[in-house]
Amino acid sequence: MTVKHEAHDRSRDLQVNPVFSREPLRVPRYQLPAGEMEPATAYQVVHDELMLDGNARQNLATFVSTWAEPEARRLMDECAEKNMIDKDEYPQTAELEARCVHMLAHLWHAEDPRHAMGCSTTGSSEAAMLGGLALKRRWQHRRRAEGRPTDRPNLVMGSNVQICWEKFADYFEVEPRYVPMEGDHFHLTPDRAVEWCDENTIGVVAVLGSTFDGSYEPVADICAALDDLQARTGVDVPVHVDGASGAMIAPFLDLDLRWDFRLPRVASINTSGHKYGLVMPGVGWALWRDREALPDDLVFHVNYLGGDMPTFALNFSRPGAQVVAQYYNFLRLGFDGYRRVQQTCRDVATRLSGEIARLGPFELITDGSDIPVFAFRVRDGERRFSVFDVSAALRERGWQAPAYTFPENRTDLAVLRVVVRVDFSHDLADLLLEDLRRALSRLETQDAPRRGAEAGGFAHGAETRNPRRPGRR
Ligand SMILES: Cc1ncc(COP(=O)(O)O)c(C=O)c1O
Repeated sequence: MTVKHEAHDRSRDLQVNPVFSREPLRVPRYQLPAGEMEPATAYQVVHDELMLDGNARQNLATFVSTWAEPEARRLMDECAEKNMIDKDEYPQTAELEARCVHMLAHLWHAEDPRHAMGCSTTGSSEAAMLGGLALKRRWQHRRRAEGRPTDRPNLVMGSNVQICWEKFADYFEVEPRYVPMEGDHFHLTPDRAVEWCDENTIGVVAVLGSTFDGSYEPVADICAALDDLQARTGVDVPVHVDGASGAMIAPFLDLDLRWDFRLPRVASINTSGHKYGLVMPGVGWALWRDREALPDDLVFHVNYLGGDMPTFALNFSRPGAQVVAQYYNFLRLGFDGYRRVQQTCRDVATRLSGEIARLGPFELITDGSDIPVFAFRVRDGERRFSVFDVSAALRERGWQAPAYTFPENRTDLAVLRVVVRVDFSHDLADLLLEDLRRALSRLETQDAPRRGAEAGGFAHGAETRNPRRPGRR
């Protein structure tokens, strides 16, 4: 969404440096310039303006890749013009997408990886929409076959879900049932999930790697509780695993953790290729355990080299370069390479969280031993500064460390979060620690916090909710 600029105000024009004296010295900022300019001038104007963007490597907020190997970048350049939907024109790009789906189906233990269904998307948000739509459509089919009404579908999830699930519920008219946080439970628990299910529940979303604190939700226990619900009441509720981050961590580091298609109740899984899949934005993946989990009437069939190519997507045109880069990463790193990268991220995260805990004023909510993301708060009794003060102080050194409050029932809890990505080394972690120590020595001289949540802490996906969102049933 863009800001409206009502009238053209000449004082807001861009002033082009006179070194480009062949060019007009002013160009309008919010209107299409009347004429052309030299490519070098246009490049410099845009380039200069972008210098003010933050330094991505110091962004501790984002889960999305901020680094890629030169070879991956080269391939992306070579594929810049490729449109993912043009299966006719770019059949090999389509083939690489299919191979990635197979590899993920294998990694996530689909019973028969060749028959798992899946596709690439623009990210986990689109993948979540597709996963949610499949749950809704399956539920509608079942209800219609039973001669029952289909007008009140609901989706059960923890109040810690990422905003994409709120969007899904809103855009596709499904009642969202956000199970509130309770005490020190910051994500969905099996007993609470079951409590909120009924015959109109299209599914339960279990998050592998909560956006708020990086913790894994207990997917196997949630499935077991739903098995029990079915045995007791006949209500059969499938599970979608939002593995935006965790579905590319757990398969490499937590081999015994059962969270994927090994659990028969898990119908579908999404991940962001552009998070711990290690691709630049934006690519995501959505997979269904088998054909039954993805109703055929949601799939559009396009003509592909005279054959039939099924597609399930919200977009039509979409860049193919990220899919190619995903395939490159899969080839380049293999299982062992991904394992080493993710283990290093986890090592950096757990060491850094340990050091932060030892500084004194902070208490860890999580330590980065699920996905390499951890959250920490200011200890009770620390009255000189807030997490929002810490976030602002780190910003002075270029670090973007989001500070935010937890959702309903725990809005009293304000935290800072650190996302450790592949390009955040032990060395950078030490530099962050030094800056944090320096900031603390100043903040500890304050007599009271200067900033609260209203000062505009940022959350990056863990935003305060839409006020329209019903918090309870
Ligand atoms: C758990 C979870 N789900 C979904 C998303 C949305 O992912 P994307 O940015 O790929 O659309 C995020 C993003 O942080 C997330 O953490």
